[in-house]
Amino acid sequence: MEQIKSMDRYGVLAVVAIAALASLVATAWSGWMLVPAAAFAALTLLGLHDLWQSGHSILRNYPVIGHMRFLFEGVRPEIRQYLIESDQDEEPFSRDARSIVYQRAKGVEDKRPFGTRKRVYDAGYAWLTHSMQPVHITDTDFRTTIGGPDCTQPYDASIYNISAMSFGALSGNAILALNTGARMGGFAQDTGEGGISRYHRQGGGDLIYQVGTGYFGCRAPDGSFCPDKFVESAMLDQVRMIELKLSQGAKPGHGGILPASKISPEIAEARGVPMGEDCNSPPGHSAFGTPLEMMHFLGRLRELSQGKPVGFKLCIGHRREFMCMVKAMLETGIVPDFIVVDGKEGGTGAAPLEFANHVGMPLVEGLTFVHNTMRGAGLRDRVRIGAAGKLITAFDIARALALGADWANSARGYMFAIGCIQGQACHTNRCPVGVATQDKLRQRALNVPDKSQRVANFHRNTMRALGEMTGAAGLSDPGKFLPRHFMMRQKDEAMVSGDDVFPYLPDGFLIAGEPDGFGYLDRWNRARAASFSPID
Ligand SMILES: Cc1cc2nc3c(=O)[nH]c(=O)nc-3n(C[C@H](O)[C@H](O)[C@H](O)COP(=O)(O)O)c2cc1C
Repeated sequence: MEQIKSMDRYGVLAVVAIAALASLVATAWSGWMLVPAAAFAALTLLGLHDLWQSGHSILRNYPVIGHMRFLFEGVRPEIRQYLIESDQDEEPFSRDARSIVYQRAKGVEDKRPFGTRKRVYDAGYAWLTHSMQPVHITDTDFRTTIGGPDCTQPYDASIYNISAMSFGALSGNAILALNTGARMGGFAQDTGEGGISRYHRQGGGDLIYQVGTGYFGCRAPDGSFCPDKFVESAMLDQVRMIELKLSQGAKPGHGGILPASKISPEIAEARGVPMGEDCNSPPGHSAFGTPLEMMHFLGRLRELSQGKPVGFKLCIGHRREFMCMVKAMLETGIVPDFIVVDGKEGGTGAAPLEFANHVGMPLVEGLTFVHNTMRGAGLRDRVRIGAAGKLITAFDIARALALGADWANSARGYMFAIGCIQGQACHTNRCPVGVATQDKLRQRALNVPDKSQRVANFHRNTMRALGEMTGAAGLSDPGKFLPRHFMMRQKDEAMVSGDDVFPYLPDGFLIAGEPDGFGYLDRWNRARAASFSPID
């Protein structure tokens, strides 16, 4: 029934084809019928062309009718301005931000006449301070080495990678286009918690293997962690890093269920789960229960992967709990090679609205907190920090680097690069452009060779734009951005410098017990390595 219902998008093409035939037959009675016959025949040819062209996924899924979308997009600027203003609040990403991604993915220059549309006197407006001594940067393949003293296989990573999105949330074609694009561009793709699929392997690009609470791809029949299966996945050459998922911004502390009806043989294979049963991702891990146990588990993952970089991803909840983990690092001497901070503004295939709206810390605050806590504990130099949460433009990335990140990840930015139109139908399996669906016919719309090239283009052109911004600020490398390079307008319209609001706190201040004026020390004193629960 679902399949037949989803065929309705071919309905218009079927109707014009039948009408063309009928009016052609009718020409036997009246020569005038040649006019509609010609018109319907032209529409039929257009529809057939839509089905086979590779540039526009929406036309491959909605032949003939799909052109209405471009018609509306092309209407007069005033109406468009009204549409922009009216839906600005509604959409996760503004039309402006998305158009920058689309243009970079197509390799089209993202220039704009007449100046900014940004409301520069609104609270929250932020800008980069440029220098009188700009620098011209030629090589924009910016990288960071991830791997601390206990890591024997450090990874020379790009500073802009594909954030975790599992096979299951995304289609096979989407995973293949993303991974192939990552291989072409020399950057990495995070598998997400759905395991390593045949599409990841087919693409051949670098992988960050994510281990979530469902232990997909390293799972024992009872759903617990299976070291032997983990070794099989982790030892693949494609796997460059191992990421333990504690939480993601869009639904922190919330598990997920993939209903049996949505489990295809490919998904079952990638996850190592049986067909015909619901697939559960519990809200918490069963492999550890305390900060100390968590560090020992990370140490074990590093051993089992023969020294590949190991780290964890989280969205900050109770700040004291993160400090418990850091205390456990100091007590065990087991220090992760990286930490990925996900902002509450992050995306997901599906999450309860209240979680998506109100649980978890936004990226700016979460990143600053993690960066300063690691500095306070004297561990910052051993650990690389990744950031995720609406980082789709060069400005977004530069600001995250200034706040303390060493690299940035994006999920929805790369989804836009493979044709996502923000239809927000990810949870319905009826994605209009074949990105977030397991419907074989719908995902046919996503032309892998074309979209892989767009993924590589998007990465390259975003790094180029970052190089231009870095040079304009008078810096030779984006890793040198600091909070003072950014200004922002506050609620009272006063402008402040980034280091007034998000200062780097001194190295070792927590170990030394130095008060900091932001409540770090007080929280630190209430944190403990042996338990996530607060000291009574
Ligand atoms: C479709 C989709 C699926 C996702 N799946 C995962 C996942 O399996 N594991 C995870 O840690 N984060 C997952 N995320 C969160 C992203 O990895 C990322 O952290 C978040 O979306 C912020 O990045 P963005 O604003 O660039 O999308 C998913 C996000 C999306 C949009």
